[in-house]
Amino acid sequence: MKVISILNYKGGVGKTTFTINVSQALALIGFRVLAIDNDSQHNLSLLLNKEIVYPNIRDIYRCSVGMAGKKMLDAIHETGLRNFHVITSHTQLSTNDIKDPYILQKAITFSSLHRFYDFIIIDNSPGIDTIQEASVHAADEVFIPTELSFFALNGIDELHKVFEEKFRDDCTVTKIIPNCFRNTKRQNEYLEMLKEKHPQKVTETTIPYDPVFDFCIKEGKTLFIHRLFSKAAAYYLKLIHELFDLDEQNTWNQVVHKRNHELRSEARERFFKNKNASSVSETILP
Ligand SMILES: Nc1ncnc2c1ncn2[C@@H]1O[C@H](COP(=O)(O)OP(=O)(O)O)[C@@H](O)[C@H]1O
Ligand SMILES: [Mg+2]
Repeated sequence: MKVISILNYKGGVGKTTFTINVSQALALIGFRVLAIDNDSQHNLSLLLNKEIVYPNIRDIYRCSVGMAGKKMLDAIHETGLRNFHVITSHTQLSTNDIKDPYILQKAITFSSLHRFYDFIIIDNSPGIDTIQEASVHAADEVFIPTELSFFALNGIDELHKVFEEKFRDDCTVTKIIPNCFRNTKRQNEYLEMLKEKHPQKVTETTIPYDPVFDFCIKEGKTLFIHRLFSKAAAYYLKLIHELFDLDEQNTWNQVVHKRNHELRSEARERFFKNKNASSVSETILP
């Protein structure tokens, strides 16, 4: 099992988009995935149609170390997609809830999640205070999705400094993922600067700017099911191959197979819903 924390000083750079799409794609490929919403804005939970539900991540932070493992198991909810589960967040999640910076790590160990999952992906709020720190202590790897702009690059340098001070060898940033890439001269310059500063960390695959992400949010759709042939889905799958060293042809076949299955079940559900609705109206209407 691998635990990955998704971080950035900045908001709106694609952390939640990355978490949901990578989790869904890995689940469609056949991996068992748990996503954890570690952000009081609970965008990830909302995307998965979860309003505030109990227990959630805040309850795990607030319980005693001895109870953390059990609370974690109780806080796991289904998402509607096979192999993909979520621990939701709460609007009142705050730094005061964190009594022990290692509680998330302990909860993951005590609940033996390695027996149930291949990946745990933790979506964070912007910044790096005790809430995000708890996720870094629990993580094997830290991924940073970023825009390509002056302030975004500056934020990554700051984040690296914080990591050196706070975590030393405990945990380092492993991957930086350029997001919302537009193939302009300026964006390419920023990309080159980023690669020069962090040569081994910046992924070869950049995620292009694509309005399909907002479409998926608005319509509650899954990118790899409802827009598998979009530019965004193609680049995300390429990124996933790169990040997790997967076989391209094999994963593509798996995703297409599961996607067709999901689309067929949706169509079947729609058919019976319409059929039932029309038979009800037939009996009610004169
Ligand atoms: N590659 C992209 N192209 C276009 N829009 C994107 C892309 N990545 C993310 N977005 C959009 O940007 C907005 C912020 O993304 P989000 O993942 O919520 O950022 P964060 O979690 O870092 O705050 C969302 O509306 C999302 O749909
Ligand atoms: Mg977010």
